[in-house]
Amino acid sequence: MTRRKKIYEGKAKILYEGPEPGTLIQYFKDDATAFDGKKKASLEGKGVINNRISEYMMTRLGAIGIQTHFIRRLNLREQLIREVEIIPLEVICRNIAAGSLSTRFGLPEGQVLPRSIIEFCLKDDKLHDPMVAEEHITAFNWASPQEIDDIMAMTLRVNDFLCGVFSTVGITLVDFKIEFGRLWENDFARVVLADEISPDSCRLWDSTTNEKLDKDRFRRDLGNVIESYTEVARRLGIMKEMPTVIQGGRPSNDDDHRASNDDDKE
Ligand code: TMP
Repeated sequence: MTRRKKIYEGKAKILYEGPEPGTLIQYFKDDATAFDGKKKASLEGKGVINNRISEYMMTRLGAIGIQTHFIRRLNLREQLIREVEIIPLEVICRNIAAGSLSTRFGLPEGQVLPRSIIEFCLKDDKLHDPMVAEEHITAFNWASPQEIDDIMAMTLRVNDFLCGVFSTVGITLVDFKIEFGRLWENDFARVVLADEISPDSCRLWDSTTNEKLDKDRFRRDLGNVIESYTEVARRLGIMKEMPTVIQGGRPSNDDDHRASNDDDKE
């Protein structure tokens, strides 16, 4: 038995070499961090839920013509993805004031913004992911002007789509963070959506009560983190048998029948 090659380990995911050139396996960990890793915990089942929610969103975005790195889910915690060259930016899109926007500008959390706002942060924990302007991005060659245009257009499409998907299940998409990568085809690089879309990277509020159903429950010690992530998955109609999956770590009756390999590699 040879051990598979680890390509990269982040705070919430691990990338392994894929079965074919140009592919990788993205493994979702249970680890949760906040404040640049200063706050840490392991939340049992988080990786399983985020794998499923991200699969669902990437698949649906692919169906409306937004290219992503996602190929298919392999098992409870892993998905096969295309290998991309990650653009070192965290692209944040906001519909409602919350979090660091509220802090920076003294806006009450929950205030609807006059229009959706896109912000760019440099992906660098050591520097605390500083916010950057397009001037910095192009001057330091993190992305070209054309790539910035593509990223902004795609982010607004993702925002419109996600707002719709969540609103039909009684959830308000307050804000989210996405990442992009370059998919090389001969000498041309196409910008595609990468990383994940999950309650770790979105602010999701119950549309009626404004109850938080996302990682702010962990950041702010609100409790019931996994229960809230599970509720998001339940409302989206995925992981109907979540409790079994979380407790046993094994596929439940209706779960994972499409997976090529149901081993939860832990
Ligand atoms: P912020 O209000 O803390 O700047 O966060 C904006 C959005 O980005 C929110 O949905 C949470 C998400 N986010 C991440 O996914 N990763 C991060 O490291 C940070 C700081 C925020």
